[in-house]
Amino acid sequence: MAPAPYVVPQVDSAAVFKPEIFRGKVLFCTGGGSGICRGMTEAVMRHGANAVILGRKLDRLTQTAKELSEATGQICIPAQADVREPKTLQDAVRKTIEKFGRIDFVICGAAGNFLAPISGLSENAFRTVLEIDTLGTYNTIKATIAHVRAAKGSYIHVSATLHYNGTPFQAHVSAAKAGVDALSAVVAVEEGPHGVRSNVIAPGPIGATEGMDRLSLKAGEHRAPAYPAGRMGHVDDVANAAVFLFSDAAAYITGQILPVDGGFEHLRGST
Ligand code: HXC
Repeated sequence: MAPAPYVVPQVDSAAVFKPEIFRGKVLFCTGGGSGICRGMTEAVMRHGANAVILGRKLDRLTQTAKELSEATGQICIPAQADVREPKTLQDAVRKTIEKFGRIDFVICGAAGNFLAPISGLSENAFRTVLEIDTLGTYNTIKATIAHVRAAKGSYIHVSATLHYNGTPFQAHVSAAKAGVDALSAVVAVEEGPHGVRSNVIAPGPIGATEGMDRLSLKAGEHRAPAYPAGRMGHVDDVANAAVFLFSDAAAYITGQILPVDGGFEHLRGST
């Protein structure tokens, strides 16, 4: 009988990085109310940072902030904002500075997604996703850059891998995420001399997230051997990458795109 395929284990960043590496740091995270961005926020807080999470739904943000504070012993506050509206981001930045006095880390994670063929995608639907993902990233950078410069801080932009190939029903998201990748690279080269780093995390299929639900790729619908890593991604896999990229261990890494997909994109590209 053939041996069972190897399955990459899930690892908690606390088992690899010291608990205090982000003590005194402040994270500003758009889309932090749920899913991948919530997971990244929790991991950064577990290493000592305080956080502000942004989103459109105040009820969900407030509940998440409470849960993250209780889970980590750090302070997390909610800030209602729509990344398409610069004023709401500026208000959230003001609230962050009033509360914490600084912004070290920014996660540009707010995103929109649904499946639609380009032939059936309305102009407004296409524009809406570009406005949330790409314009929203630009707006977030503009609102925070002065403070990130002052802290010699770091950006992580949450992108995707689907625009590396033609992914059906994802014209809007593919175009939007390609723009996000480009923005991150520009921030890296323009802001590098000010001590700012900017990188992209490109998650592959990550189970138990709204994005996966929207794309109808639920964990149960995929047999583990379809993934080179032997399993679907977990939010913690992305969170661990964020801890690394924000840490001093990544001090010489900027302008890069880090896929966190267990090798899935290479498998897809080979078929
Ligand atoms: C076709 C759709 C649609 C659908 C909305 N639209 N849903 N078109 N198929 N399923 C169209 C609408 O008809 C409208 O166009 C336009 O999009 C704007 O819709 P609104 O509902 O008015 O916009 P809004 O309320 O701002 O909502 C934005 C949204 C929504 C993107 C449409 O789904 C959203 O807010 N999502 C946020 C949460 C989310 O998606 N999270 C998952 C991200 S995951 P018309 O022409 O009718 O006016 C992710 C991962 C990607 O990004 C990578 C995975 C591997």
